[in-house]
Amino acid sequence: MQYLEIKGGKKLSGNVEISGAKNAALPLIAATILSKNSVEISNLPNVVDIKTLIKLLENLGATCEFKDNHCAKINASCINSTKATYDIVRKMRASILVLGPLLARFGHCEVSLPGGCAIGARPIDLHLSALEKMGATIEIKDGYVIANAKDGLKGAMISFDKITVTGTENIVMAASLAHGKTTIINAAKEPEVVALCKILDSNGVKIDGIGTDELVIHGTNGKLLDINSIKVIPDRIEAGTYLCAGAITNSKISITNCEPKHLGAVIAKLQEMGFEFEISGDKITILPADKIKPVEIITSEYPGFPTDMQAQFMAICTVANGTSLIDERLFENRFMHASELNRMGADIKLNGNVATIKGIKNLNGADVMATDLRASSALVLAALVANGATKVHRIYHLDRGYENLEGKLKALGADILRGDE
Ligand code: UD1
Repeated sequence: MQYLEIKGGKKLSGNVEISGAKNAALPLIAATILSKNSVEISNLPNVVDIKTLIKLLENLGATCEFKDNHCAKINASCINSTKATYDIVRKMRASILVLGPLLARFGHCEVSLPGGCAIGARPIDLHLSALEKMGATIEIKDGYVIANAKDGLKGAMISFDKITVTGTENIVMAASLAHGKTTIINAAKEPEVVALCKILDSNGVKIDGIGTDELVIHGTNGKLLDINSIKVIPDRIEAGTYLCAGAITNSKISITNCEPKHLGAVIAKLQEMGFEFEISGDKITILPADKIKPVEIITSEYPGFPTDMQAQFMAICTVANGTSLIDERLFENRFMHASELNRMGADIKLNGNVATIKGIKNLNGADVMATDLRASSALVLAALVANGATKVHRIYHLDRGYENLEGKLKALGADILRGDE
């Protein structure tokens, strides 16, 4: 297993280029199942989760040719199996994204249940009940979701009790090939959902209401789509994480190839903490604060403050001048970084889904354990300002979603090394 060793205390400077969004690329890769053509996807992030989903498609019979680390041509027209097996699905919950497109195209599929996840129960009941509304029969057997819709899926009126990102994406893809019109009420509005809808809408499926919480998908009655090429949008969570690296070290750094519009809630919170910004085109520069102020954060769905940025902000709060509050509303078990930050000397108290973080002068380097993707990045951020060296163990979590994190931080001036345990 590998670890990252970071020696804290260095000011950062310079520019970091943001990669394509993992969470946008995953549904787009799954959407290739709906296409009759090979699809070229560019601006793919070079991260493990992307490789995992492509491997899953290859196991189903699709072919994939990488033009370089960031561009792949996927031909899913040759899929000859509809069983997504446990050995791959267990590696990544988002594998569930193949359920909707496989069922819509083949009228049958078996997808291993994604199982528990470190950040909470994360059920898929909303995905399944929506597919049932569209005429599918669903059975859970031997750890697999077995879905059938022999005569194809039918358009339906679906109202999600809770806003679900991958649930919305799955149903949008399923509805694309369905017979008739599907309306999704309380749909997710995340930029990644919008990106998927736009690609489908411009390649054969009419979708009304893109970017709103009510989507109307006019299914093609089984006709496959004509998708040829896709460019993945920039990763707003990676972008936000580097802005936090600038913030916690109180440095001036810039990020490029990002979409400032997608970072509204993150930038607003950093402004509340005393940081100023220069924004021009696809470039954002964060400027140091006189004094890092404490904040109150409540996570919510887009355009609210993203749960995927909560851990990174908690890291900044540990060194703010005062007491911050973070209320995690999306996932019930997403504070595992708190005890690791406390190992570095932070003063964080948890009460249910609320964390109270009393800012302290200095964190101290320690051995800490990465527990999930975003928690891991929070530990790296904290290490950037801790006294002495911090070893972040189990960084395979980071490699799932951050492209070349240590290379990008090193280019900004951080003292960071990857090693083998
Ligand atoms: C996606 C993102 C993840 C992000 C999350 C919330 C991807 C690949 N992952 O995850 O990075 O943290 O959105 O922004 O895009 N829920 C149910 N039943 C369901 C589905 C969800 O109860 O069938 C609940 C979940 O437990 C959670 C909430 O709904 O409390 C939101 O989850 P959801 O939006 O589905 O998260 P993911 O799509 O898995």
